[in-house]
Amino acid sequence: MIILGIETSCDETSAAIVTSKKEILANEVFSQLEEHKPYGGVVPEIAARSHISILDTIIKRTMDKAKIEFPELSGVAVTGGPGLVGGLLVGITTAKAISFAHRLPFIAVNHLEGHALTVRLTGDNSGKNVSFPYLLLLISGGHCQILIVDGVSDYKRLGSTIDDALGEAFDKSSKMMGLGYPGGPKVEQYAKLGLKTRFPLPRPLKGRPGCNFSFSGLKTKVRQTIESLPPGPLNTRDIQDLCASFQDAVGEVLIDRCTHAIEEFLSKHSNGGHFVVAGGVAANINLRQRLMKLAENYNLPFACPPINLCTDNAAMIAWAGVELLKNNKTNNLDFCARPKWPLEPSS
Ligand code: KG4
Ligand code: ZN
Repeated sequence: MIILGIETSCDETSAAIVTSKKEILANEVFSQLEEHKPYGGVVPEIAARSHISILDTIIKRTMDKAKIEFPELSGVAVTGGPGLVGGLLVGITTAKAISFAHRLPFIAVNHLEGHALTVRLTGDNSGKNVSFPYLLLLISGGHCQILIVDGVSDYKRLGSTIDDALGEAFDKSSKMMGLGYPGGPKVEQYAKLGLKTRFPLPRPLKGRPGCNFSFSGLKTKVRQTIESLPPGPLNTRDIQDLCASFQDAVGEVLIDRCTHAIEEFLSKHSNGGHFVVAGGVAANINLRQRLMKLAENYNLPFACPPINLCTDNAAMIAWAGVELLKNNKTNNLDFCARPKWPLEPSS
């Protein structure tokens, strides 16, 4: 099975070719970072226009790199949501056109499912396959959830953020410190050289029952801390210490929330399963290491995608397409973009 995947839900234009033998034949990612930089965040209209202007080229480059022609494909998978509607429409319309012209199955993929299933493409940290069920911490720019993954399109949510997503907290804190967008990688770099005990920051919901998250209070405290420092741009030492303090607070919250989730998971699945971390924030080495240790403490195998497949890419969409097509989960060409599309049908 050979699937073309297309991802245009936010500010990355990406196309990929992935096979059911878990080969990534090509994965082209074009980041619109420079276009959004002057605005300090993603501007939906600019994103949509940029996807239109480059998607054809990216798909052609991907097909050329993979040395695959359209008739060799088994299907076309595209992010159907959640995301920015303008971008989604560009990807969906393109995928529908390819599907119609070449009589290929059309597969609308939930972007979150793309993140959730990536480890089944890449394997766990010991190179073993990740099978169902597994516990998933999904931390990205738009989402922060803990779910049990029982199968393809079969999710049970244990908790989610009651305010900001974790990536959003990284991005907004970064912006307040004058570091720009996307904030996660910048905060991680500065944190490496900082003193994590210098600024006392809150650990929202730590010690409370359940698996929900809250990050808006932490973000507010970052702002107040900046305001308490001498006016003007922060000096490097302050930025390093604030980033380290922020990242440490985040790590402690994640460990606390995931401890509850692991216990709930084990009470439902006594044979265990993998503990998986995915989404853009999973690219953070410090947080990955802390979460890996937590898995070790519970004797659970740990899996997270390689760094380049944590942030948005079409390989994860193509792979979800493989999994969905294997399960005969395809869509008609009247599929409409779903800017909001929860993983759990009831939520
Ligand atoms: O999964 P993703 O590419 O897009 C969404 O689906 O939202 O995640 C992007 C988010 C951004 O908020 C970015 O700041 C964050 O992932 N991120 C990181 C790191 N790399 C990306 N956060 C913390 N540390 C990183 N190294
Ligand atoms: Zn994403």
